[in-house]
Amino acid sequence: MAILSDDEKLETHKKNPVIKPDKNVYDRIFENSIRPKSFDSYIGQTTLKETLKISIEAAKKRNTTLDHVLFYGPPGLGKTTLAGIIAEELNTSVKITSAPSFERPRDIIGVLMSLKEGEVLFIDEIHRLNTVTEEILYPAMEDFYLDMMTGKTQTVKTMRIQLPKFTLVGATTKAGGISSPLRDRFGFVHRLQFYTIDELTQVILRTAKILNIEISTDSAKEIAKRSRGTPRIANRLLKRVGDFAIVKNNGKVDLNIAKDSLNTLKIDEYGLDETDRDMLKLIIEKYNGGPVGLDTIAAALGEDVRTIEDVCEPYLLQAGLLMRTPRGRKVSPEAYVHLGLGIFNEK
Ligand SMILES: Nc1ncnc2c1ncn2[C@@H]1O[C@H](COP(=O)(O)OP(=O)(O)O)[C@@H](O)[C@H]1O
Ligand SMILES: [Mg+2]
Repeated sequence: MAILSDDEKLETHKKNPVIKPDKNVYDRIFENSIRPKSFDSYIGQTTLKETLKISIEAAKKRNTTLDHVLFYGPPGLGKTTLAGIIAEELNTSVKITSAPSFERPRDIIGVLMSLKEGEVLFIDEIHRLNTVTEEILYPAMEDFYLDMMTGKTQTVKTMRIQLPKFTLVGATTKAGGISSPLRDRFGFVHRLQFYTIDELTQVILRTAKILNIEISTDSAKEIAKRSRGTPRIANRLLKRVGDFAIVKNNGKVDLNIAKDSLNTLKIDEYGLDETDRDMLKLIIEKYNGGPVGLDTIAAALGEDVRTIEDVCEPYLLQAGLLMRTPRGRKVSPEAYVHLGLGIFNEK
């Protein structure tokens, strides 16, 4: 693991405010220590878990590999964690990769050829695979072979190479971004749901135990409420609140400490941070509540469209503060109330 200079750490922090569910370097180190390793410690997503358990049992009984699985949903909901659990349940190991690292054909070929029989191959951000890589994957996923071209133009031959059988677990934040031939090759396509307050409270209590943070249930719930339905954020907030408690309250997290520290972090009761609030405010004040296009919003906020679309928007939609219309995004009456911006004027 790379050791960062203080300047680099600061940059990482600036780029990844506490509330954003995409990952930074700290998260990687921190998350691996608290990641559930079995279905029992994986909280929530009940239907998905039951379906997966049955498929895994069936594959084991039939002595075959598990069909390829695609997970989609916003960042931080537990997709990577599930890939690890699947491997664990199948008594095998997982190779963790990410689509942007497959640039040339030999990158994916190398990984496929290095797999062990029955192993799980995890490809994160799978909507970002290039066409060549995808085409190499098709026969590999379907019948576990590769067709390789050898020789010069006149003497070109295809050589069929048998691969070990494997299970591909793909993850994406955008189900719509995946080509249909690729999507069709997955036996299971599962959508991850945002977590309820109760589930997030359990996530927080579980993590607190692992990290030896003394915390009351009501404060865990307070943190849960402001975690945008996302375990990654819940864990990150817990850690911040825990730090706050060390300085202010001998490490004990009670409701006052929890509220104080969350307010200091400028996270409101909806779990919104300043970017979210700025986005809603912008639509209300500059565009009369919308509809307004995402590109316009992103440009006006000086944010990346992808961040707005993948990170801010899904939760604002889920929380009922933002609405999608054919002509762009619109804020809801609740957003006016939440921001204290007066009566909603339907135009
Ligand atoms: N169902 C869950 N139960 C407990 N902790 C979870 C759960 N889902 C995710 N987490 C925690 O949240 C963090 C982010 O999960 P991860 O699998 O990396 O999300 P994703 O891959 O969807 O972005 C992990 O460190 C894990 O500890
Ligand atoms: Mg992930």
